[in-house]
Amino acid sequence: METLRSERLTLRPMTMDDAEDLAERRSDTTTAQYQAWRAPYPVERARELIEDITSRPGPRPGHWYQLAVVRTRDDKVLGDVAIWLSENGRTAEVGFTLHPWARGHYYATEATARLVDYAVFDLGVHRVEASTHPHNISSIKVLERIGFIPEGIRRERYWVEDEVSDDAMYGILAREWKARRAQD
Ligand SMILES: CC(C)(COP(=O)(O)OP(=O)(O)OC[C@H]1O[C@@H](n2cnc3c(N)ncnc32)[C@H](O)[C@@H]1OP(=O)(O)O)[C@@H](O)C(=O)NCCC(=O)NCCS
Repeated sequence: METLRSERLTLRPMTMDDAEDLAERRSDTTTAQYQAWRAPYPVERARELIEDITSRPGPRPGHWYQLAVVRTRDDKVLGDVAIWLSENGRTAEVGFTLHPWARGHYYATEATARLVDYAVFDLGVHRVEASTHPHNISSIKVLERIGFIPEGIRRERYWVEDEVSDDAMYGILAREWKARRAQD
């Protein structure tokens, strides 16, 4: 998959060299709080994840694909974004995570918007969606800031080990995204 660039960021495929940084990020309790894993996140697990991602050349139906979010000016890895494609390739789901020290600069907003651009304009998806814990306010703000529309709550749908929580759904249609971009 090609590298994606935005004003301040470079989104590039992960490599094995990202494993320790990924494990560190996922081991942070504020990162793990609303996610599908529990902290600490072992580096071996990060390596397995990267091995799985890099076994495919880019996003493919039925799979998640992670990209490292790098600050272009100093090549520092700030976090990651991920994209999943439905079996028919017409729906994408996105996710995003930053190191705690990288938050508060609109990096997640910029990276996610770039990923949606890629999904809509390069992959040609019809719709992009995201789901998050209803209490994950900073995640919801990122989604709403770039135009995702709240589509409801799926009650007690999201499991992390033996704990279940509600799942807040957000989505944007390709034509809505294109209309927003035309106004920029
Ligand atoms: C979700 C997550 C990526 C959001 O990070 P974030 O830093 O809040 O989002 P952005 O990078 O887009 O930055 C926007 C925030 O920076 C603030 N900001 C930007 N520039 C600022 C400045 N100069 N001074 C103060 N605040 C500033 C914005 O006001 C905004 O905060 P707000 O949403 O409270 O208004 C982060 O909280 C995270 O990694 N969480 C753990 C993983 C997770 O839950 N991911 C979502 C799964 S769906």
